[in-house]
Amino acid sequence: MADRMTDRETLSALLDRMNDPDMTEAQFIQSVESDMLPIQQFFSYYRCAIMEIETKFRVLDEQFSLRGENDPIEFIQSRIKSYGSIMHKVSKLGIPHDLASIEEHLYDIAGIRVVCSFRADIYKLADCFLRQDDITLLERKDYIANPKPNGYRSLHLIVEVPIFLENEKRPVKAEVQLRTLAMDFWASLEHKLRYKKDLPPETLAALADDLKACAEESAAWDEKMQSIRSMLQ
Ligand code: GTP
Ligand code: MG
Repeated sequence: MADRMTDRETLSALLDRMNDPDMTEAQFIQSVESDMLPIQQFFSYYRCAIMEIETKFRVLDEQFSLRGENDPIEFIQSRIKSYGSIMHKVSKLGIPHDLASIEEHLYDIAGIRVVCSFRADIYKLADCFLRQDDITLLERKDYIANPKPNGYRSLHLIVEVPIFLENEKRPVKAEVQLRTLAMDFWASLEHKLRYKKDLPPETLAALADDLKACAEESAAWDEKMQSIRSMLQ
């Protein structure tokens, strides 16, 4: 509540400045920009962390393809959590709204999704990535060995990576999700269907069962593809 008051105070200070006859338009724009600077800087740390981590995976992919092993990575998809989603999570967690506390408690502001061809590639890449001496593992969740009850599968690594700025080295947290094409296909469709909450409960329950069955089938596909590859090697 106190934080909401602070938001309101910021807004009313902004409106006061907008109506201040002694302030030129240029001065007003400059004052807004300087208010925004800490937030822009905050997001920029996460963009830099994404660049660092993406490069690490691209380098590994390059190296494995040189060795004649097929490039293990199909594609990488990264995203920064939107300001709205950050605030939603902050309220859910009940943590203070200041940037330092958000930085401390939210692990998924920078998200890097590495989509691999085969399941074994996931573990191989994750091991190589985690062995690098500037990566600190904060949490590892293996939803491949232990799928979620709805069938979701992926390997999640919460890590800290240093970014090197003009005058400082700054550790930044990020969430890396490694999955196969089949796992990604399932997760993308499930994500879209999850928001269709306006369906009757029995339809939703039937859909959940169908989705779970699809997850099991795609896991069987992954397994089959993995054993075909092992045979070819
Ligand atoms: P969040 O509050 O959602 O971050 O949960 P968490 O901190 O317990 O992390 P978790 O490892 O469960 O999930 C983090 C991310 O994994 C999500 O933001 C999604 O991108 C993905 N994810 C997890 N569970 C599911 C799922 O059931 N379906 C889909 N499509 N994605 C999932
Ligand atoms: Mg999350």
